[in-house]
Amino acid sequence: MSQSHLVAALQSAFGSDRILTSTEAMAGYLVDWTGNFRGEALAVVRPSTTAEVSALMRVCSENDVSVTAQGGNTGLVGGSVPLDGLLLSTVYLCTFEDFDPNSGQVTVGSGVTLAQLQEFAATHDLEFGVDLAARDSATIGGMTATNAGGIHVIAQGMMRKQVVGVEAVLPSGEVISTLRGLAKDNTGYDLTQLLCGSEGTLAVITKVRVQLHRPVATQLLVFGVDSISAALDTAAGFIGNISAAEVIDRASVECVHRVTGISVPFDSSFHLLLEVRGDLDFEALAQHEYLIVALDATDREKLWALRERVTESCAAEQVGVSHKLDVSFPQNTLGDAYTQLCDLLDRDGVTQVVIFGHLLDGNFHLFFTTPAADQEIEREVLELVARLGGSISAEHGIGRMKAAYLHLSRGESEISMMKALKSAIDPQGIMNPGVLFI
Ligand code: FAD
Ligand code: LAC
Ligand code: ZN
Repeated sequence: MSQSHLVAALQSAFGSDRILTSTEAMAGYLVDWTGNFRGEALAVVRPSTTAEVSALMRVCSENDVSVTAQGGNTGLVGGSVPLDGLLLSTVYLCTFEDFDPNSGQVTVGSGVTLAQLQEFAATHDLEFGVDLAARDSATIGGMTATNAGGIHVIAQGMMRKQVVGVEAVLPSGEVISTLRGLAKDNTGYDLTQLLCGSEGTLAVITKVRVQLHRPVATQLLVFGVDSISAALDTAAGFIGNISAAEVIDRASVECVHRVTGISVPFDSSFHLLLEVRGDLDFEALAQHEYLIVALDATDREKLWALRERVTESCAAEQVGVSHKLDVSFPQNTLGDAYTQLCDLLDRDGVTQVVIFGHLLDGNFHLFFTTPAADQEIEREVLELVARLGGSISAEHGIGRMKAAYLHLSRGESEISMMKALKSAIDPQGIMNPGVLFI
């Protein structure tokens, strides 16, 4: 079938409200959140059932047309924007099914946003284990496909730990399902977990069965500290009771302040946000000269905003091309890694260097700008990360952005094994080509 016949066939199958073909209607889907990745598509298709996704995949594989799944389009590595073929938006896959109050499990459509799931959980006095600032747009399907991290990994693990089952459509149109959410199931390869972090390169995730938790009361403490090692030492005093440990460097808080007007509590080099469970030992806390304890929910929200609004504030001030790297290190090398990253970026043409992130996950987000696209400098940073024993992607994934650098974090045999899995499941290579592997 020619491409125009394919689009016409989809138009009559889906109806004009669920298939977009004009440049204007597709525009928002074809550029990523960072603005660095732009793509093209024959059409944007928005199925509302698994059967529709299956029919769509069947047509695409029969006609060798590639498919890029897109959820909230908040990914930061260019994985949600197609080079060509069809863009499959999950926006209408937004069901809630089979909530079990005893186990705390619920099955959601992959297009359900994190905020919608959080709201659902709250109405049942439960909460979801992963939280991140893009909650209003990021979808449960996208978070599963990227194995998102966020602020509670130290207590709850990453997305894969919350996912107890998936339903997904393979490139052939076949549907696989592990939605029973069995706690124990040693019957061969774990296909649920294979799809977590697969970045749309193996299958379209249509439903996810997630585990919700009973909320535990926490308090928010904000410390001013002068080094990464001081931040780690401070956090060490609360180990076992921490539900979030976030660090923000001076340049980050100043950027947030300029853009949002939020006041910066301390004059220190770093702010450390610690969310801790249990009673506070005020005698021990009195030893900290620079410390604020959030008094109430409003105070807490205001202090969290200092951390949560770094990414959008950097985007608001962006001049030139922004580089948004997401790297991790063994925790005991974090202080040294911070210094080496700053030294490497201390050069002409590099501006707006901010470093912040998930301290106890050993995860820094490193954002900077250059006057024009500059892959060489990204390569230098990622090579430094690899030399220091870190990972070139802690939580955002590889996407298109880091596909050329995968070998810095994964060995030759590992990459061969990943490619073998990819070609077994997607022999035509129609699932999100250009993502993960080049
Ligand atoms: P998209 O951006 O639409 O897609 C991301 C990838 O998943 C693409 O490769 C896409 O093809 C694939 N995909 C999407 N849906 C499906 C599906 N149904 N089936 C198969 N593949 C699919 N990330 C973190 O890990 N931690 C953070 O703390 C964090 N904070 C953020 C804060 C801000 C302000 C922003 C803008 C982003 C942040 N992110 C963070 C990155 C982003 O929010 C996450 O990667 C999120 O998981 C992406 O979800 P999405 O629905 O927007 O996916
Ligand atoms: C955050 C994103 C950038 O942690 O991962 O804010
Ligand atoms: Zn993050």
